Amino acid sequence: MKKIGVAILGLGVVGGGTYRILTEHREFYRKTQGVDIDVVSVLETNPACAQTLGVPEEKIASNIAEVVCNPDVNIVVECIGGVTAAKEYVLAALNIGKTVVTSNKELYAKHSHELEHVAKRHNAGLFFEASCVGGVPIIRTLTDGLQGNKINSLIGIINGTTNYVLTKMTNDGLSYEEALAQAKTLGYAEADPTADVEGFDAAYKLSILSSLAFHTKVPFSKVFREGITAVSKEDISDGKQLGYVLKLLAIGKNTDAGIEVRVHPTFVRRDHPLASVSDAFNAVFVEGDAVGDIMLYGRGAGSLPTGSAIASDIIYAATHSDIKYSTFKNGAEAEKDVNFADDFISAYYLRLSVADESGVLAKIASVLSKYHVSIVEMIQREKAGGKASIVLVTHETHEFAIKNAVEKINSTEIATVESVLRVVS
Ligand code: HSE
Repeated sequence: MKKIGVAILGLGVVGGGTYRILTEHREFYRKTQGVDIDVVSVLETNPACAQTLGVPEEKIASNIAEVVCNPDVNIVVECIGGVTAAKEYVLAALNIGKTVVTSNKELYAKHSHELEHVAKRHNAGLFFEASCVGGVPIIRTLTDGLQGNKINSLIGIINGTTNYVLTKMTNDGLSYEEALAQAKTLGYAEADPTADVEGFDAAYKLSILSSLAFHTKVPFSKVFREGITAVSKEDISDGKQLGYVLKLLAIGKNTDAGIEVRVHPTFVRRDHPLASVSDAFNAVFVEGDAVGDIMLYGRGAGSLPTGSAIASDIIYAATHSDIKYSTFKNGAEAEKDVNFADDFISAYYLRLSVADESGVLAKIASVLSKYHVSIVEMIQREKAGGKASIVLVTHETHEFAIKNAVEKINSTEIATVESVLRVVS
């Protein structure tokens, strides 16, 4: 039977889960896949991690050279995260012709062009299913399941931490700070939650997924990004009153005007399938020209779900002799003839603070009309001190039209626009 030696770099949450899956399923893979996958080496600086997992001492390497030069290692799994050391280790493995499996979205989003270049030169495989949406097999769905389609769009909730925070704000009326504290207690949010709450994590994933979906390089720098730190309890409850639920959506579209890639908090109607994706769960909608809509749903993070994605990459690499690389020119930048549309079309939710007096609404409507922004629905709430909140939802319009209208309203002191959120209509 074919034997495949695996080395795991980093035995934290994801590496530890991978170690458990591979050791517990070894016999199962021998039977079902006809391949003997053996973890022959691990690299971990914290001895407690290896001890907890019961890794035999002789398998613990003391440095990366020992791992990549080990002739029994065929596949190197990178689970250390971050970019600097991870990139150095991955390049060391690829340069020696070892196949690499990584869960590192930041590394892949920022450096896939360099990694792939080296992998090609040394005829090595480079797999990254675990980099996006944890255990949900979105990468292989795009590259192997839907390759008969032109993909028009993908829309998803691809960050579990922010989905947990927004779910708690929506269902339990918590403030952003209270919900984030809960997410930290449960281990969803890290001590420094910036990557999740500012939308970086989702933007890395969207850059990777859109490149695959649209067969062209979508650099991370092209992804419009807005996080959830400014979302208020008021927005959540006003949206609720209008029949909407707030989600951090990652949206990729291939339109006649160009490619649109954006991550931002977005209201979706209560009956939209993404509205019921709660807590730390993830889901991605993909629209293909032949298949229509499909939706994948599941755990986007965690030890065993992410380990599941890594294990399937390992099995794929172990059972396929051909090596697939990008279907597009994977450079550092986008290809010159590809347009990126930043004046995208969306519906909008605006919350304005106004003096509660006659004529104010007419003035707001007049500015919006000047920018061809049309209102679908509106509510007004009394506030203290002779003030009121006006909450509007618009028809679809251009991003730049809304920006200009908001600037005009604020500059003429008719009202203060306190919140602008996009709406999937
Ligand atoms: N921190 C991510 C999330 C998981 O909350 O979804 C890893 O990308």
